[in-house]
Amino acid sequence: MSTIFGSSIGKKLLMSLSGLFLVTFLIIHLSINLLLLVPDGGQMFNVAANFMAMPLIKYGLQPVLFGGFIIHIIYAAILTLQNNKARGSAKYASGNNTKDVMWASKNMFILGLTISAFLVVHLIDYWVPLQLTHGAKSVTIDGVEMHNAYALVNASFSELWRVVIYLVGFLGLTIHLTHGFWSAFQTLGLSNNIWRKRWTVIGIAFAWVVGLGFSTIAILQYALFQ
Ligand code: HEM
Repeated sequence: MSTIFGSSIGKKLLMSLSGLFLVTFLIIHLSINLLLLVPDGGQMFNVAANFMAMPLIKYGLQPVLFGGFIIHIIYAAILTLQNNKARGSAKYASGNNTKDVMWASKNMFILGLTISAFLVVHLIDYWVPLQLTHGAKSVTIDGVEMHNAYALVNASFSELWRVVIYLVGFLGLTIHLTHGFWSAFQTLGLSNNIWRKRWTVIGIAFAWVVGLGFSTIAILQYALFQ
């Protein structure tokens, strides 16, 4: 064991910290995406999305964000392999008896793979045309020319199959968070008998607000905004 992050608890710490960092990203991302429901032809969403593509954010924060995802995924894979090897006959006890949370705790890696697959599709859909190839259409708002991110999202949610793929990704994310949220606080030592129950309830509520929030956007874009 050369460093703290090489130890098992160190790896779990990195998983928790990167997970909570990604939770923060989800809150910001969902807040910006809710602008997709403002009936202004996508103006507010476009301004916010293009702000997120500014050089300071693109070159300063995005690498940190992608680093957060990579750390979370790599350490999840390492810990899952180690757990499977060490488990033998003794099953991993999550310490949390809530039924759906228990199911989630046993399927975190599969749920993570579902989210990763969703992320690949998602980045190809939006991040690549908006930030990599700059293939998206442009729009001028208040005299400023910018990418029409709204048109891209609106066009992609005009196809039912894509809405369904996204909904599957959101469901995976929701279930993943029902376990991941309280588990992160547990690993960080911020939980006891009383707080474990509280973090579980807060985590389940947060997970469903996030999952239903993203889902509502996709469904309403498909059903009302075409
Ligand atoms: C209705 C649901 C969603 C919509 C409409 C949406 C839309 C977008 C758009 C337009 C971008 C490109 C922003 C830009 O480059 O200017 C983007 C980027 C991104 N999205 Fe989403 N997103 C949704 C859900 C999610 C979810 C659930 C996750 C995570 C699990 C996620 C993760 C990301 C990441 C990692 C990026 C790249 C970083 C960034 O550009 O901020 N998105 N999304």
